[in-house]
Amino acid sequence: MSLRLGDIAPNFRAKTTAGEIDFYEFLGNGWGILFSHPADYTPVCTTELGKTALLQDEFAKRNVKVLAVSVDSLEHHNGWINDINETQGCNVGFPIIADEDRQVAGLYDMIHPNASETFTVRSLFVIGPDKKVKLMITYPASTGRNFYEVLRVVDSLQLTANYSVATPADWKHGENVIVVPAVSTEDAIKKFPKGVDVVKPYLRFTPQPNL
Ligand code: BEZ
Repeated sequence: MSLRLGDIAPNFRAKTTAGEIDFYEFLGNGWGILFSHPADYTPVCTTELGKTALLQDEFAKRNVKVLAVSVDSLEHHNGWINDINETQGCNVGFPIIADEDRQVAGLYDMIHPNASETFTVRSLFVIGPDKKVKLMITYPASTGRNFYEVLRVVDSLQLTANYSVATPADWKHGENVIVVPAVSTEDAIKKFPKGVDVVKPYLRFTPQPNL
């Protein structure tokens, strides 16, 4: 059965461009992103891995470790990384799994046979420090993902984990956030000293608490 939000992310050992890794050891106590791409030496994938590399500091700031995966060989990954660095003006510093036996693709349901029998689709999982799946997105091979959106979701997830707030539609860093329904207005007023704007009893905003 495929994974769902809140499920424990399966652990695995895998061959990567940074040596053999145990996924849980790689993640440690922090956050993680595991994302698949269809194939090395393809144009959209080249831009996606380049963009992720350019955002490495942003992921690190949020204590997020990044791990890419496709069913190509280590030899292909290592050759392709040179092309990514050259064409995207970056330095790929995160490991890429060589999932030739499709172990990871199987555990995370990354092959969608009606899209392709052989290649992984563009799956992305955000995994929390508790090793639970917090976000799953799946894009087709022809559409590159928006990695600023991934960072935005990580910010939202971390605000929820640390401050019991949610984020409204199209929320951006710095904008007001939502008090979750589990917190009473009385408690919210104590918990959020910057103020609580009660628009409706169920719709309450407060300034982003970690600024
Ligand atoms: C690409 O990364 O450009 C790509 C990969 C597989 C199928 C289509 C596009």
